[in-house]
Amino acid sequence: MTKSANTMWGGRFAAGPDAIMEAINASIGYDRRLAPQDIAGSRAHAAMLAATGIISDNDAEAIREGLLTVLSEIETGDFPFSTALEDIHMNVEARLKELVGEPAGRLHTARSRNDQVAVDFRLWVRDQCDQADEALNALQQALLGQAEAGADWVMPGFTHLQTAQPVTWGHHMLAYVEMFARDRSRFADARARMNTSPLGCAALAGTSFPIDRDMTAKALGFDRPMSNSLDAVADRDFALEFLASASICAMHLSRLAEELVIWSSAQFRFVKMSDKWSTGSSIMPQKRNPDAAELIRAKIGRIFGANVALMTVMKGLPLTYSKDMQEDKEQTFDAADNLMLALAAMTGMVADMTANRDNLKAAASSGFSTATDLADWLVRELGLPFRDAHHVTGSLVAMAEDRACDLPELTLSDMQSVHDGIRPDVFDVLGVENSVASRTSYGGTAPSQVRAQIAQWKDVLK
Ligand code: ARG
Repeated sequence: MTKSANTMWGGRFAAGPDAIMEAINASIGYDRRLAPQDIAGSRAHAAMLAATGIISDNDAEAIREGLLTVLSEIETGDFPFSTALEDIHMNVEARLKELVGEPAGRLHTARSRNDQVAVDFRLWVRDQCDQADEALNALQQALLGQAEAGADWVMPGFTHLQTAQPVTWGHHMLAYVEMFARDRSRFADARARMNTSPLGCAALAGTSFPIDRDMTAKALGFDRPMSNSLDAVADRDFALEFLASASICAMHLSRLAEELVIWSSAQFRFVKMSDKWSTGSSIMPQKRNPDAAELIRAKIGRIFGANVALMTVMKGLPLTYSKDMQEDKEQTFDAADNLMLALAAMTGMVADMTANRDNLKAAASSGFSTATDLADWLVRELGLPFRDAHHVTGSLVAMAEDRACDLPELTLSDMQSVHDGIRPDVFDVLGVENSVASRTSYGGTAPSQVRAQIAQWKDVLK
């Protein structure tokens, strides 16, 4: 027995689709998430159709009430989703027809699923930009809390993961506040660019009905209607910009996560994760595993994967709409969900972790971290050219290494054996506290700089 032809376009079809055709064609399994946006778009469209006299006020009112019923059925889980009806647009419209009858058939006047899906998805992605912004704000607050608690705590700064120079904990935390601020501005830029309305572009060419696109754009919170109907139904770069911003943000999260993994290890012991954010091992009782940090570190994989996937889907597609574009949603949903989860988890972890001030300082004091301070002292106090100072310092580091001690533990005569001009006050700059306190250049690690930056961020982050 052949299935009956589709009620939406069955006019020229004698039979329904093959079961596998239906399976590959349907998006309702995931695009049901767009129901609120789909209904908002339909409400705006119906109100506009009535305001322009394209449909009657009575029909518009029936549509409006029917759509509200559909929305509440979806919210309460009572909505009969059907794969045969392919996607959210046709599911909603078919149910509307059951609820209100004939007026439902007028809703699709001067519209196509092509502009409909473009509207729905844009609204959804726009909302994700707002959610990302909010989540990033919370994460910045958590980092700022850490920065404030340890504005002047000394820790090793690394390059190549080798001890480089002492820095402050507050400074390190603020580095991430900066990165996440740029992520926020990327989402904000993407949002501003995507905030134009495709509604009324219909299938691709616009419509002969006297529609008011400004009215629907305004009703949906868009800045204006998109200017080219072909572009409007073919464009998915708004989703790509979201995914690109999400990828960069996930990359930042992954770097912080990696630091937390390293820092919480027994070898470093810079931070202790709270019990809430640690897991144990079923076999090794001593373990406190930073699973959440590891998973956040890994999330970039699927988020950047979604970015690459959609870029690849869109590449080479002729204008305008092609069904390929239905593949835009599933991975974007997944990427957004996982980004929000990673942001929330990172915020919780950062807020709850405890930095170990003593271990940070002990680590900062080892590894000849003040060698640059010594070289700078030789330049400043003895007038050596920096290259010569570098050489003298290198010899002193080698001497300390030979004796398995740190630079401040060398005696004055050890130092003078390498350069006879060295005076006892050199020891002032070999202490890590003095080292960080001296780095007062703008953006530098000195506690005075860090505190000034914290004060500015507190103003910005509300
Ligand atoms: N489910 C479709 C999508 O997500 C909606 C648009 C369908 N348009 C069409 N001409 N078949 O892209």
